[in-house]
Amino acid sequence: MYEIETNRLWIRRFKPEDWWDLYEYLSDRDVIKYEPYDVFTEDECKTEAMKRAKDDAFLAVCIKPSLKLIGNIYLGEREFDTWELGYVFHKDFHGKGYATESCEAVIKHAFTNLKARRIIAHCNPENTSSWSLLERLHMRREGHLRKNIYFKTDEHNNPIWLDTYEYGILAEEWELRS
Ligand SMILES: CC(C)(COP(=O)(O)OP(=O)(O)OC[C@H]1O[C@@H](n2cnc3c(N)ncnc32)[C@H](O)[C@@H]1OP(=O)(O)O)[C@@H](O)C(=O)NCCC(=O)NCCS
Repeated sequence: MYEIETNRLWIRRFKPEDWWDLYEYLSDRDVIKYEPYDVFTEDECKTEAMKRAKDDAFLAVCIKPSLKLIGNIYLGEREFDTWELGYVFHKDFHGKGYATESCEAVIKHAFTNLKARRIIAHCNPENTSSWSLLERLHMRREGHLRKNIYFKTDEHNNPIWLDTYEYGILAEEWELRS
């Protein structure tokens, strides 16, 4: 269990009591547009907050001084000392640099304390905010996969195939970033 403090944020593990703040953004169709899941109900958020409270991969990002939960970062371990980064933030807190500030701190933590060798992330090419964030974090676009995945089906139950951008950064590149 770890906590990370940045200038404006506290990053910590989830607690079951976080369900309402989680509901505020996971119930927002604009926020979950590119996620593999649908909008969450209040009950689903209660279950989700309990699930995340037991999962080290989900980090709650809270704003100072109120410590309101404004979003989450996902940092999941993959093979070969690689960790996958993900993030979802409440719409009211977009455009203020909070995602950049918290992801930078989590990436630093991964390279320094978790001995990550490589950090990767995936996003839909249409999700400009997401890949702009990855590029602010000095991550490199390493692939454009064509129609490799689907989350939803159409009215005939056919998959709605989506493209994916793959991003990555190595520990030594993070050290050398400008
Ligand atoms: C992806 C997501 C986290 C990016 O959020 P974001 O608000 O664009 O990113 P940041 O919080 O780092 O904010 C950066 C913006 O704040 C601005 N900003 C304002 N004050 C700032 C400050 N003090 N420091 C840094 N940036 C600041 C930056 O200029 C930048 O603006 P721009 O987008 O016009 O270039 C957000 O869009 C989101 O949660 N989307 C829904 C979930 C989602 O799609 N997740 C990804 C699935 S792959």
